[in-house]
Amino acid sequence: MATRRTALGAGLGVLGATLTTGAALLPTALRHRAEGEPARTGTKAPARAVTVSETDRFRVAMPVPPVLRPVSTRGGRDVYDITMRPAECEILPGVRTGVLTYNGSFPGPTIKARSGRPVVVRQRNRLTMPTSVHLHGAAVTQENDGDPMDTIAPGADRIYHYPNRQPHASLWYHDHAHHMEAEHVYRGLSGSYLLTDSVEQALPLPSGPYDVPVALRDVHIDGAGDLAFSMGDPERTTIVANGKAYPYFRVAARKYRFRLLNSSNIRAFDLRLSDGSDIIRIGSDGGLLPRPHTTDRVFLSSGERADVVIDFSRYPVGTEIVLENSAPPGDLARIGQVLRFDVDRTAPDASRVPSVLRSLPRLPEPTGERTVKLTMAPPQAFMDDKVYDPGRIDAFVRYGASEVWTVVNANEVFPHNFHMHLVQFRILERNGQTLPPSDAGLKDTVNLMPGETVKLQATFDRYRGTYVYHCHMLDHSAMGMMATMKIG
Ligand code: C2O
Ligand code: CU
Ligand code: CU
Repeated sequence: MATRRTALGAGLGVLGATLTTGAALLPTALRHRAEGEPARTGTKAPARAVTVSETDRFRVAMPVPPVLRPVSTRGGRDVYDITMRPAECEILPGVRTGVLTYNGSFPGPTIKARSGRPVVVRQRNRLTMPTSVHLHGAAVTQENDGDPMDTIAPGADRIYHYPNRQPHASLWYHDHAHHMEAEHVYRGLSGSYLLTDSVEQALPLPSGPYDVPVALRDVHIDGAGDLAFSMGDPERTTIVANGKAYPYFRVAARKYRFRLLNSSNIRAFDLRLSDGSDIIRIGSDGGLLPRPHTTDRVFLSSGERADVVIDFSRYPVGTEIVLENSAPPGDLARIGQVLRFDVDRTAPDASRVPSVLRSLPRLPEPTGERTVKLTMAPPQAFMDDKVYDPGRIDAFVRYGASEVWTVVNANEVFPHNFHMHLVQFRILERNGQTLPPSDAGLKDTVNLMPGETVKLQATFDRYRGTYVYHCHMLDHSAMGMMATMKIG
């Protein structure tokens, strides 16, 4: 049982060893801006990073991104309009930061879709750079996949068709313009796309206001209040949840479902609750796991999703529980806390986590095998020793094939991960060992620590065409760790 004191105590226990001093005070210039004075112009801003000190955290509520309303629901499909445009937002309290957005929202608005009901999104690019919108985890035709080279020019519009002919899953959409995906996503071009179906709807899981998407990421904000971007920047050490640094989130003493998304460019999260208590893992990239499992930590590399249920009924009203992270880079004093759950009321709870969540189709007999090797030697990164060339086909896959891909992270220091467009795959083994239960579901992105090998099986029976696969640590894909497969 964690009271406010023990929860805080546990948090400090973890953080105490690496507490740093003076890391976090805002420069005077920023304080003035925070009080309403115009930003200074014409002077070169100090490059020093700004963040929120440990004593100033949890003062801002974590917002839930707005759910986008369709402009039309006629003809059996939902039509949405999105404008990509610059905006300002307060990631740090009182500091205005310029971001790139879908509809002015950081992160972008959530699209809610249902299997079997198509979605059409008109994307209007009102930025100064070409963009390309990819729906991560979705099976769509090549023209609608947001290929790196298939961009929307500044000022132009483009219509994307999403058939939603796939089971429920917590998908997300983000920029994918060649060489620019890393910076564009970092500056804000990402949002959630929650696809549901009758299998998921039939379950008594927490729903409505108790089903909350949470996009986690990091930022590096410089002394001028701007997002600093450089490839591989280890100074991205301010942790952000749904667009706010170290927010609190008020919860009732009951069960909640959280759809965690790691939308960071590089950072992985190794999450736990500050009192070490149970988290029920119910889903991953491609929707619900066959069965829930209880754990005290959730690991998410860039682009991965985890669906979890946390039961706050075990805490008395007034308890504060911090969601903590232990994955580097950065001092734990900076990166060790993510957000705080404040249990502020009781509420009735008819929800349950059933012991069986879904069944997955049996894997077909594999029809072939191939190996993919990930390596990086900054400033270049490679897939099978080659830098991405959009004019080259790296893998020819027969339509209908079900292939086992052995993916090797051949680096000794850099973690990588591996994401395929078009398919949801199954992980077969990791380093020759049997899998943890969190790997048992449908996946589109899989983490590989230095030296690790993962075997996965993917079935290419959806669409013909060319699609990319890449490391989803987007600074790496932008440096070349990406390749093209042609299904035909
Ligand atoms: Cu999340 Cu190629 O993308
Ligand atoms: Cu993708
Ligand atoms: Cu990588």
